[in-house]
Amino acid sequence: MKTHETQHQHNHLPDDPAPAHSARPHSAAEHHPAASKGLSTIAIHEGYEGDPLTGSLTPPIYQTSTFVFPSVEAGTKRFAGEEAGYIYSRLGNPTVSVLEQKVAALEKAEAGLAFASGMAAISAVIIGLVKTGDHILCSRGLYGSTYAFLTLMQNRFGVEFTLCDMTDEQTVRNSIRPNTKVIYVETPINPTLELVDLRMVSEIAKEHQILTVVDNTFLSPYLQRPIEHGCDIVIHSATKYIGGHGDVIAGIAVGPQAMIDMLRMTTLKDIGGVLSPFDAYLLIRGLKTIGVRMHQHSKNALQIAEYLQQHPKVSAVYYPGLPDYPQHELAKRQTDGFGGLLSFELKGGLEAGKRVMNQVQLCKLAVSLGDVDTLIQHPASMTHSVVPAEERLKMGISDGLIRLSVGLENVEDIVLDLEQALQHA
Ligand SMILES: Cc1ncc(COP(=O)(O)O)c(C=O)c1O
Repeated sequence: MKTHETQHQHNHLPDDPAPAHSARPHSAAEHHPAASKGLSTIAIHEGYEGDPLTGSLTPPIYQTSTFVFPSVEAGTKRFAGEEAGYIYSRLGNPTVSVLEQKVAALEKAEAGLAFASGMAAISAVIIGLVKTGDHILCSRGLYGSTYAFLTLMQNRFGVEFTLCDMTDEQTVRNSIRPNTKVIYVETPINPTLELVDLRMVSEIAKEHQILTVVDNTFLSPYLQRPIEHGCDIVIHSATKYIGGHGDVIAGIAVGPQAMIDMLRMTTLKDIGGVLSPFDAYLLIRGLKTIGVRMHQHSKNALQIAEYLQQHPKVSAVYYPGLPDYPQHELAKRQTDGFGGLLSFELKGGLEAGKRVMNQVQLCKLAVSLGDVDTLIQHPASMTHSVVPAEERLKMGISDGLIRLSVGLENVEDIVLDLEQALQHA
């Protein structure tokens, strides 16, 4: 069954039965005009040129599970991959396709694939790329559920994984094993904000015919595009900056067309973690403002990092945008901005941190990130509680580390809230 040939995604909506030879979505990386457009323009316009029937400015929500074939012959051809057109929404849906094309174009990737959550995307990509006996080399900080998923893969299915200090080139080289199939990177690393040099890692990977997969959730494609640095597959928890408003759980993976086709027809189709058309619509709407949001998130975060740095009760601030941040030069080289995430430690350690987190009012005590609302959380007891304490320390996550996802409120109001809360530290 070659249904992947038939599932793609017209540039016009609604059912504009493109001939089979043009059934593939364009590769933004190569020949589409989007390749030369600015990122905000791509975020607003890519993937949808209007509905020729109604003129609807925004993409319709195709809230349908299945699609009617005009004839038995047409249905047969769609299944055989000889005719373009949708079949069933687990294999592809016109609203979801718009989102996939937008994120692929933003990331300069050939194709995209949406999932029901960031973890659905991460697990589907990893299961799609490895088999029993393979090894995955990871950056030394991983989102807690990614760590838990890799542990399950190791214990239940014999896929090994190791964490490695990717700030050092020789350590990366030494950590590669004959059976390493994937290098899996978070950068900036959650929640320590340590950076990995994507160019360095992807070049080493290529020498060994290893694929590089990057979780780009923390910066969004607006601020960092790993494919431009030689990486192969990029994953997002679209729950975060892509949606931007804290109202949807979603994931997306982008990469070479052949790899995305393979994932669509294996670990998306057969595990089934598909995104609903309505959630795709929310993400399409959120994406339209990604440019202005990421600018303001970065601006607010820098001001807050500077404020915290001079605060007498704060012992350390981790934010790549600070000029004295150890990897500031790499951040400037690799990214188009420093993003909205920062971490800090209080002189009074965990107890002081708990008091501050219980006193904030405007900042909300909640996990997640990338929302318009400022969120504050405690990784050791929340997002990274599944990681054993010893591993957590190796990742640089002390018990006193607090993570702030700086939102889009007036920055003076965020500072005032932190100021009153820090009095209790
Ligand atoms: C860096 C990172 N990757 C992946 C995920 C998982 O995404 P989701 O919650 O959408 O499944 C998260 C969630 O917080 C995250 O922070």
